[in-house]
Amino acid sequence: MRVLSVTSEIFPLVKTGGLADVTGSLPKALAALGIETTTLIPGYPKVMEQLKSATPLVTFEDLLGEKASLLHTRFEGLSLFVLDAPSLYDRPGGPYVDERGADHPDNWKRFAALSLAAAEIADGVLPGWVPELVHTHDWQSALTSVYMRERNCMTPVVLTIHNLAFQGQCGAELLDHLGLPPHAYSMDRLEYFGDISFLKGGLQTADAITTVSPTYAREILTPRFGMGMDGVLNARVSVLRGIVNGIDLDIWDPSTDPHLPRNYDVGSLRRKRENRAVLLELFGLDASHEGPVFSAVSRLTWQKGFDMFAETADEVVNNGGMVIVFGQGDKDIEQALLNTASRFAGRMAVHVGYDEPTAHLIHGGSDAIVQPSRFEPCGLTQLYALRYGCVPVVSRTGGLSETIIDANDAAMSARVATGFQFHPVTTDGLRLALRRALHAYQDPKMWARLQNQGMKAKFSWERSAQQYAAVYANLVRKSGQVVAPAADIRRAVL
Ligand code: ADP
Ligand code: GLC
Repeated sequence: MRVLSVTSEIFPLVKTGGLADVTGSLPKALAALGIETTTLIPGYPKVMEQLKSATPLVTFEDLLGEKASLLHTRFEGLSLFVLDAPSLYDRPGGPYVDERGADHPDNWKRFAALSLAAAEIADGVLPGWVPELVHTHDWQSALTSVYMRERNCMTPVVLTIHNLAFQGQCGAELLDHLGLPPHAYSMDRLEYFGDISFLKGGLQTADAITTVSPTYAREILTPRFGMGMDGVLNARVSVLRGIVNGIDLDIWDPSTDPHLPRNYDVGSLRRKRENRAVLLELFGLDASHEGPVFSAVSRLTWQKGFDMFAETADEVVNNGGMVIVFGQGDKDIEQALLNTASRFAGRMAVHVGYDEPTAHLIHGGSDAIVQPSRFEPCGLTQLYALRYGCVPVVSRTGGLSETIIDANDAAMSARVATGFQFHPVTTDGLRLALRRALHAYQDPKMWARLQNQGMKAKFSWERSAQQYAAVYANLVRKSGQVVAPAADIRRAVL
């Protein structure tokens, strides 16, 4: 089966969070099931710089008023369509924000153009490479199915919600500039409290909606987690399901990870100590101090609950532990964490920023990973933590609640516990969970068991990819298409 995936980020080319990890690793897992995915991404500078060679396929003279060309390339096992549109993507800053952290003012056009190009591909602009199914991700590609339906292209579409907090809203006056007719601005399409919502358009027109854990799929049906979209989602509940994310076991493997000074596996966990020494030095912490290292690698936002950690990190330090926080996000939360760290020189460090090697080293050298999210569609850091023998301390919400098994007495005696969960998701709840984890650390046998059980937990893509494959197959069967054999894009197009 031939699938067009459409996304605003993909690892290893461009990443601001877990979306990139998922769009970068799912195609490889699906390939093992006979599904050939080509992913359409914007040609940001970071993407264009890394392309070694690319085949030009087609030029759009007027893609929402901009000139753009579609390229094809292969990159580290991925098949990619790159939308090269300098007026939209060739600029400083990240995929969504400028150098000062403000949203690019024309994000509506940047991602509508991405979606429109995807709809063109689905509708046959590349003769010989026509997908049997389109998979869109989050609001940035959600207009794809809206554009497709407008041109009567009925190829099945799966829309995956990675985070409902981002919905792609813009003023209703932009409808015309989106190249959409007046009837698209209606309750059953894009209209959203007087504005346009890209995500709502996608939710209304996709054939299947998935989100990244069954628990989050249930949560978003409620006003508390629905972010204003719960009504729409309830109306479409018959096509909604949760499929938990997997992780790329080749990239996140402590026994081969090139970013770790010392590799280890479940049988040689002692070696983590050598990574710990390097880690503590990198963060300027007192390497002679014995005691657990509780770390966090995360976007530092309200969603992730790090304002609560700024208020509770003292619990770790006052009980003999050390704290490392690595990430970036809201300035207020960054500052609150830096303030706490300034009270505990040598024992707590906060580095604002993000890079992949440091993220790996933190997992390779820490004892516990803290993720106190207020909501978490799936969460990947806790899965990386398990694989690296770190014990996760997490809130009981979304994917965190179903990927970590709390170390209560029953789970300990059944030998299945892997971490610590807290609920309700409050500062006091977090403080208590930190205290429980610190207490458990005093019992080396118990801690080793938690590490062991976590490292043996299976979060590869295998099972989840099969679930996506089943969703795809079902839709393609219903659409009555005959599935064509895989094609060579170059030959098919040129
Ligand atoms: P989310 O996608 O909501 O940020 P996940 O847990 O699914 O959360 O994924 C986090 C991924 O992003 C991990 O691979 C983590 O190492 C990485 N990450 C964490 N903080 C940042 C950041 N500030 N910038 C880019 N990637 C980050
Ligand atoms: C989102 C979510 C996160 C999820 C990731 C990948 O950014 O916040 O929970 O793991 O997408 O699906």
